[in-house]
Amino acid sequence: MKKQNLHTILSLKKEGLPITMLTAYDSSFAKLISESGVEAILVGDSLGMVMQGNSSTVPVTMENMIYHTQCVAKGNQGAFIISDLPYMSYSTPTQTLSNAAKLMQAGANMVKLEGGDWLLETITQLTERGVPVCAHLGLTPQSVDIFGGYKVQGRESKSAEQMLKDAESIEKAGAKMIVFECIPQQLAKAITKQLNIPTIGIGAGKDTDGQVLVLQDMLGLNPGFKPSFVRNFMQDTKTNSIEDAIKLYVSEVKNRNFPTNEHSFN
Ligand code: KIV
Repeated sequence: MKKQNLHTILSLKKEGLPITMLTAYDSSFAKLISESGVEAILVGDSLGMVMQGNSSTVPVTMENMIYHTQCVAKGNQGAFIISDLPYMSYSTPTQTLSNAAKLMQAGANMVKLEGGDWLLETITQLTERGVPVCAHLGLTPQSVDIFGGYKVQGRESKSAEQMLKDAESIEKAGAKMIVFECIPQQLAKAITKQLNIPTIGIGAGKDTDGQVLVLQDMLGLNPGFKPSFVRNFMQDTKTNSIEDAIKLYVSEVKNRNFPTNEHSFN
């Protein structure tokens, strides 16, 4: 796979080609994922659950994110690396600039933060200073205590309209990508049509510009945990090979065979 950068990723939307993304938190998986044709690696704060065994992303610290970003960057073979700014690490623009710099210096190519219009000034400041920004809307796990659990967002017309407005303002503020988590597929489709920047879905249906999954979820490594939007690609390979499972994910996303209605919300 050719080395990815912001421009190669953005051009995929222009060409109408689906963008593939998976999470990774260490060097070995970053190497395998990037060699298997995945264009973008997300060093997600989902590491709080997957690596640390917590019940949410709230305990994840900047130190954790820096460490795992460094690990991923060392193994990466050309994928575009996006790192999450963890809980409460971007509450003011000044704090955000300092923390984003640490992630970029650790090897990230873009930082991701969760939230809507309260982040506009922060997004503009990061962008002006050379930090590509990915926003995250819908079910934003750092706000799980406000949502009262991991629930689908944007089902009512008021919240759907607000999400569309937020997405448009976030693009205007300078963000270069938005992740949509657990929202109705019709809403994801409408927002994707409205934006020039790529939308990446997880539980957002087939019409976003790209897809992301947590690696351990799509490999079925936690048998008791299988959200409806996840497909077990390991099971579907029949070869018991992690590499084959990742390659199957890439080809199913590229051929628009994943996600199906079964993995989507209405
Ligand atoms: O932290 C993460 O892995 C994420 C994805 C679920 C999008 O933000």
